[in-house]
Amino acid sequence: MKIGIDRINFFTSNQYVDMVELAQARDVDPNKYLIGIGQSKMAVIPATQDVVTLGANAADSLIDDENRDKIDFVIFATESGIDNSKSAGAYISGLLGLSHVRAIEVKQACYGATAAIQLAKGHVALNPVSQVLVIGADIARYGLHTSGEPTQGGGAVAMLITKNPGILELDEESGFITEDTMDFWRPLNHNEALVDGKTSQNVYLDFFNKTWTEYKDKTKLTLSDFKAMLFHLPYTKLGTKGLKEVLLEANEDEKVELTREFEAAKRYNNQVGNLYTGSLYLSFISLLEHSKDLEIGDRVGLYSYGSGAVGEFFSGKLASEFEDRLPQINLESRVQVSVGEYEEIYRSQLKNDGADIELDYKNDHSKFVLTGSKNMQRQYLIQ
Ligand code: COA
Repeated sequence: MKIGIDRINFFTSNQYVDMVELAQARDVDPNKYLIGIGQSKMAVIPATQDVVTLGANAADSLIDDENRDKIDFVIFATESGIDNSKSAGAYISGLLGLSHVRAIEVKQACYGATAAIQLAKGHVALNPVSQVLVIGADIARYGLHTSGEPTQGGGAVAMLITKNPGILELDEESGFITEDTMDFWRPLNHNEALVDGKTSQNVYLDFFNKTWTEYKDKTKLTLSDFKAMLFHLPYTKLGTKGLKEVLLEANEDEKVELTREFEAAKRYNNQVGNLYTGSLYLSFISLLEHSKDLEIGDRVGLYSYGSGAVGEFFSGKLASEFEDRLPQINLESRVQVSVGEYEEIYRSQLKNDGADIELDYKNDHSKFVLTGSKNMQRQYLIQ
């Protein structure tokens, strides 16, 4: 039975900060951000959006009267969760009107959405009429004036995993690895992640080589079987480094083709920044939207990495509806905010102090918004 991604959608805020302006404000050569890190714009997430509303805004258009009753499992992947006990899956099921479901949250840094897809795949294999809603939603926060600052961002990718999928049929085999590593973590008393960026880069590349080798051993496939190679993109330069590793196995024609497809696959990430769990899948959407010569049956490789650390290389073939089911994404209509405005928005995020607060949401026209907190309960609104 073919199982994979039947529908996919992406959501982020309608505001961004320009990386040249951020570099100038930080007294850094803009080319460090534009070329060295590979980011041009960074999504700025307002206080009125958290992972639950970002996820709901991404998932809403995937659910209709035909599939509502078939969705029986909601898996919410995030590393910027809003509750230590209640899952974001439970919150979002309420907002989306899904009640006859199992709803959970999974966590393993940026790998979470891939873990969710693998769980969903097993669930559909046992229950072929089921559809599983997988959401990867995060707000990447490192701290103002830190080295991680230019690699922030945020947003959500939602996917429906079904049998006979319309967009991507997942292959059976994958290569995977876990090693207990301190390259990125967020202790319980921290709102911002702590990161050892250099270690993270090294483990990311090491795990890529290991999982790709395991995948090839298991499948007997080679690089020439792939139309495109996609990478988890916390910032696009890291994926460029991953691609460089694998291009050592390519002939000249393959180098040109795989580089061209990677350029298509990084365009949205370059404009949004890090989504953590959703980054790899935003890159997949970017490939579908920007590549000029994809065909049904083309094989795509996906490298997922979550610090801490788990890596997985897996693959899939483009399915018959992939061109007709592209999400509607319009990053051009976003509003640019100044560095001063970005800093103010950064500081306005809901505090974990338990105080009641009403947020001003008049400028947030998203369907799902966070309006504040009352009696230590987040207040959500569908508008
Ligand atoms: N023009 C072009 N490139 C420039 C440059 C300039 N003027 N100045 C610096 N660069 C390049 C550097 O050579 C380097 O390239 P390299 O990685 O190919 O060597 C790159 O820009 C970054 O410079 P560096 O000095 O290493 O930056 P940094 O110490 O500020 O750290 C990160 C950069 C990405 C490591 C840091 O932002 C970070 O830790 N981000 C979080 C990473 C993360 O999310 N990890 C977990 C998920 S995988």
